[in-house]
Amino acid sequence: MKEIKIFAPATVANLSCGFDVLGCCLDIIGDQMILRKNNQRKLRILRITGQELALEAKNNVATVAIIAMLEALDSTQGFDIEIDKKIKAGSGIGSSAASSSGAVYAVNKLLGDPFTLKELIPFAMEGERLASGNAHADNVAPALMGGFSLVKSYHPLEVLALPSPPELRLVILHPLIELRTKDSRAVIKQQVQLKDAIAQWGNLAAFVSGLYTNDYKLIGRSLQDKIIEPVRSILIPYFEELKTIALENGALGFGISGSGPSVFAMCKGDTIAASVKEAMHLFYKEKGIDFDLHQSKINTQGIKIL
Ligand code: HSE
Repeated sequence: MKEIKIFAPATVANLSCGFDVLGCCLDIIGDQMILRKNNQRKLRILRITGQELALEAKNNVATVAIIAMLEALDSTQGFDIEIDKKIKAGSGIGSSAASSSGAVYAVNKLLGDPFTLKELIPFAMEGERLASGNAHADNVAPALMGGFSLVKSYHPLEVLALPSPPELRLVILHPLIELRTKDSRAVIKQQVQLKDAIAQWGNLAAFVSGLYTNDYKLIGRSLQDKIIEPVRSILIPYFEELKTIALENGALGFGISGSGPSVFAMCKGDTIAASVKEAMHLFYKEKGIDFDLHQSKINTQGIKIL
């Protein structure tokens, strides 16, 4: 294979109870990427549409991830890359993760699958390190593996795939302000109160249990965040009002998507998700804030070849 075209999906990290360790993959929002081998022994980004992003290999998350992968293979193979960015940078739904995961997935295919999907995660994480100063895996893991992912540990890296209850839906509202992950990580306190930690690990464990037993109500009750949400939510216009509206319209739970400013409402079934989406739409429109709004299933496949 000389050329490949892929769909690299958006993802929602943290999911309230799992800061830096939990994420899931969306099915309707994503970038398209074309990668082909070249004989120049160079990584060349020929074109990026949809966003203004760096084209130099050392400054783009896609090529930085590929460099890490080629180094591990001791390979000097060159690649030409075209990216059509549909996920806005700084939106909180894994824009950099889609690029870095998509890039290593495509290169892996073009090289005959030397790595498993799980083995690609550390390379994609190098893109996250470039984008945010921190190599977290909670977006790149679900982008590569689909469904829900849990980062059991970072040192050593151990990532688990979790089941996706079939009726789960996510409504994603993106207020059109840019919030860089680097900045929204800077506001987080480095110390945690024991009582908050107890609440958080109880919720994370219960959330995982809910995924395994299709217990939608338990999933909803577990979408709580005592640690990160209180400090980050003040950066998101009308966060508390949106949460109240989502829950009053039947959402199971509501929280910040990744590092924001996008927020998510998790719902059971398309009908409830549609009414939550409609209510959030009306509220934000009335406030005069520009936004994007999506309703998505859980994408259990992850990156797709087009
Ligand atoms: N877990 C990361 C954070 C995700 O919240 O900073 C960034 O998308």
